[in-house]
This record gives sequence, C-alpha cells and structure tokens, in this order.
Amino acid sequence: MTLSDTEAQARTLGGYDDASRLRQVHDRDWVLDRVTGEPGVLIDLGSGIGQLLETALHRHPTLRLAVGLERSEHRLAEAGERLRRHGGRVVLHRADLTGPAPLPYRADVITMTSVLHWLYPVEHRVLAWVREHLAPDGTFLLTTYHPARDRHGLGGEDDIVRAALGVLGIPPESVPGLLEDRDVLPIATRTRPADELQALLGEFFTVEESWEREAVVTVQDAAQYEHFHAATFGDYYASVLEPGLRAEFFRTVGRVASERQRREGRVSSMPVRLWKLTARPGSTA
Ligand SMILES: C[S@@+](CC[C@H](N)C(=O)[O-])C[C@H]1O[C@@H](n2cnc3c(N)ncnc32)[C@H](O)[C@@H]1O
Repeated sequence: MTLSDTEAQARTLGGYDDASRLRQVHDRDWVLDRVTGEPGVLIDLGSGIGQLLETALHRHPTLRLAVGLERSEHRLAEAGERLRRHGGRVVLHRADLTGPAPLPYRADVITMTSVLHWLYPVEHRVLAWVREHLAPDGTFLLTTYHPARDRHGLGGEDDIVRAALGVLGIPPESVPGLLEDRDVLPIATRTRPADELQALLGEFFTVEESWEREAVVTVQDAAQYEHFHAATFGDYYASVLEPGLRAEFFRTVGRVASERQRREGRVSSMPVRLWKLTARPGSTA
C-alpha cells in the first residue's frame, strides 16, 4: 500500500522543526532564561531534533558538554546534523527514558520539555535518574502540560481526535473504549493534574519555584494542523484505525482543528508549568 505524505511523515515523526513552532518551541527560551551562572554540563532529556541543545550552546559559551537523550532514531539523526558544528561539545545517546541506564555525567542543568507525559505511569524512574545525575548544586528544569480532562481522562489532543473519529463514523461515546482496547492512553491522563505531579516531584526534588503560562495553538489552515499532529503524535492515535483509514484520519484532524480555529479563534489552549527543581537534601548519589 502506498502511504500518503502525512502517513510517511508520522512514521518518522518528521517535520518537527516546522511543526514545533506552533507550541513546543515556546518552552525553549522560557526554560533557558532560568539557567543561571556558568554551566559546564547540560543534559536535555527527550532532546528531539536538538533545538534546545543548540540554543543552550549558543547562549552559554561555558558549556563544555551538552548531552541529549532521545528514543527516536530519526530525531537523533536530525539532531546530529544540526549540532555537528559543535564537535566534541555535544554527545547524543539513544535512550528509552522509561528505563534510562546510568551515564558518567553530573550535570549543572538537566532540562526536559514536553516529554514527561510520554513516560506515564513510570515517571519516577526518570526522576530518580535525574536526581542521581545532577551535580550537587544542579538544577532540573521541567515543563509539563495540563489540559482539562473529562471523566474518561480525555482532553487536549484527545478531544480533537475524538471529533475527527466522529467525522469518520465512530460515535464519540465509544472513543474512550476504543482507545483503551488499543492500549492508547489518553494524553490528558498521561499529563496528570498539576497537584498530583507536584506530589510525585516532591518525592525526589525540592520545588524551588514554578511558573505557569497558557499555551495557545492557532493555525492558518487545516494542512498546517495535519502536519503538526503527525510531527508531534506520529501514529499514536492513527494506530487505532485500519491502515486504509489513516490518511483520511490525518486530513480530518486538520479539518477539525481549522474549524475550531474559525469558530473559537484558536485550536486549543492549556496551562503549561515550568518547574525549577533541586535534588532533595541528602538524596543525591
Ligand atoms: C513533544 S517532543 C519534545 C521534544 C523537545 N524536548 C521539545 O521540547 O521540542 C517529545 C520527545 O520525547 C521523545 N520521547 C518520547 N518518549 C520517549 C522515551 N520513552 N524515551 C526517550 N525519548 C522519548 C520523543 O521521541 C520526542 O522527541
């Protein structure tokens, strides 16, 4: 079967450089503005295509080592290209953050932006890893998204997907069951409410400060959101459908989003929190 352009894009999570301008990119300077002093080692978890590492290297000439951990081979390859000119100041590791192996670094700064929900429900493993890999005065800067959720635990992107599946003939009330049958956890369940997350973070870290802003996504047209969805979520939701329906699913997600844009002046809006964390006294390795 020939894949549509979007299906092919979703398989490799391609096009993120462009797509991330809609939402994720705004975390980058927000986080890096909180880096103080003269850091020597920074680790970015779920480093994607290396955008945060690139900006950090540019903003902090004192960095002798910028380390990225990422699961996607395609993203690592793109990051490698992007960061090549920094030579030995950059190390990229392929890693699954649901069970990260120890590495021989102690970092002044560890960052993780728009990633933690993908590690649900075993986030404690990466949190323990971070605690062990922070230098004694190191800081962990983390961003987390908190869309409102309904009684089924759906919200945020799940709502757009539910509406798109409705257009394809799947009744909205059967969507929670369909996701569950296919082992697709709703994103709004993965993200956890901010107070629940705070309790989890408190097991490992002291919350020095936190800030919240509203992430508002707007689009110019349906194609732009179709592209964003494929680059951000890949096949995650599309996998609940037969392969023959997936190209139409991606197009419909784009149309649903642009219809919301027309009706409400935006596609979505949700709080994002930035946490500044330090290892709890006595708990560093
Ligand atoms: C939304 S992107 C965020 C990328 C980047 N941090 C940013 O803010 O633009 C989520 C990233 O986490 C990575 N990721 C998801 N689950 C992962 C896992 N279990 N281990 C390592 N990386 C993972 C994805 O491949 C993707 O690059």
